[in-house]
Amino acid sequence: MIRTGIVGLGFMGQQHFAIHQAMDSIQLLAICDKKEKRRAAQAEAVGGNIGEAQTLDLSALARYATVEELIANPDVDCVDICTPTYLHADMTVKALEAGKHVICEKPMALSADDCQRMIDAAVASGKLLLVAQCIRFWPAYEKLSEMIRHGELGRLTSAKFTRVSPMPTWSQDSWLLDNALSGGAVTDLHIHDVDFIISVFGRPKSLSTQAANRFSSGQKLDHAITQYFYGDFVCVAEGGWGFPGTWPFEMAFCVLGDEGCLEFSTAKSPMLTFYPMSGDATHPQVSDETGYQREFAYFAECLETGKHPDRVAPESAMESVRVVMAERHSAETGEVISL
Ligand SMILES: NC(=O)c1ccc[n+]([C@@H]2O[C@H](COP(=O)([O-])OP(=O)(O)OC[C@H]3O[C@@H](n4cnc5c(N)ncnc54)[C@H](O)[C@@H]3O)[C@@H](O)[C@H]2O)c1
Repeated sequence: MIRTGIVGLGFMGQQHFAIHQAMDSIQLLAICDKKEKRRAAQAEAVGGNIGEAQTLDLSALARYATVEELIANPDVDCVDICTPTYLHADMTVKALEAGKHVICEKPMALSADDCQRMIDAAVASGKLLLVAQCIRFWPAYEKLSEMIRHGELGRLTSAKFTRVSPMPTWSQDSWLLDNALSGGAVTDLHIHDVDFIISVFGRPKSLSTQAANRFSSGQKLDHAITQYFYGDFVCVAEGGWGFPGTWPFEMAFCVLGDEGCLEFSTAKSPMLTFYPMSGDATHPQVSDETGYQREFAYFAECLETGKHPDRVAPESAMESVRVVMAERHSAETGEVISL
């Protein structure tokens, strides 16, 4: 049994809470949130970009206001960090140094230096660190990755990824809308596709990003389109959170090869379709679990076996942060950035 504690019971922490509660191999012992209402015996629920969380019954759990108190609980083996991104590095390092395993929400951190501190702490402690890049575990994306690996799409021609949503209004003290704390949509939202692209296609030779703001001022981070230059196929990703409040969150991809095209969109029904070069379109069956559930099942397996979580090696999550920083630099300067 893995005995866990969650830090940050906002939108993502509440999604994780439901997963911890549902898994047989996990016993949730403790939670921590700096906001009193979020750590009350009956805690307030938060809305987010994927579904609505339920009100939480925390009465049976140890409840703390600071991460230090939670980490000091000797019964907790594994800490789940769901706090704002600017806190990830310090909290992860503290938890690892205290001998806890850590699962930390994406983005790993706001700078490569902070990511490196997290990696160094994991190495020094010998404990496991998984950065929750959930799209690598999202069934339709797993299917895409598998079809590419097995050559079922043939030689690739193009790949397009999309992730667009209304402005995120739920975050505590609006930290998500403060680009210094969240890195804006480019770092917070679009990184999902950056991370997936790198995990499947490897690091591109170079990239070029154009970005714009809708509600932020300063660096353009509300909406971006990046072209990744691999040389042998075309790859583009679009991410932004400047859409009207009535716009339904959408994540999507369309990948074309000389054997056919795999298309996925949360705005379509069915969401996943394979169009072969000849013959009828089909709808590949994939698990109806979310990537959140699957990443936890994977991490639990790693913790039980002691295997390092190499499906998202911390170094690869750091690489995604680096590529996002290169995109931000490209958007600012108008330059093509070599990687
Ligand atoms: N994987 C995904 O699909 C996904 C989706 C949304 C958010 N996220 C990530 O999850 C993380 C949290 O985002 P969110 O949307 O849940 O934010 P949020 O504002 O809804 O929740 C953050 C919570 O952390 C608490 N908190 C803040 N500072 C704290 C501190 N010092 N000690 C203890 N608690 C503290 C806040 O009170 C709040 O309850 C971010 O890194 C974000 O990028 C991931």
